[in-house]
Amino acid sequence: MTKTPWVDKDECIGCGLCISNCPGVFRMDEEGKAECFDASGATEEEIQNGAIDACPVSCIHWQE
Ligand code: F3S
Repeated sequence: MTKTPWVDKDECIGCGLCISNCPGVFRMDEEGKAECFDASGATEEEIQNGAIDACPVSCIHWQE
């Protein structure tokens, strides 16, 4: 099974960095929090570097 990133919305501050870096994976929900809509929209490395490691509050995690 492929790994899927998920956003802990209680922690997300809506900075938008993950969406800028991986627009094919993350989008803003109606409350201004990021969410994953397509785990296959970028490589695992791109998601790791551009979203998980880049998020200022470290609220994006892998879900196996
Ligand atoms: Fe939220 Fe972090 Fe993305 S704060 S908008 S999950 S970079």
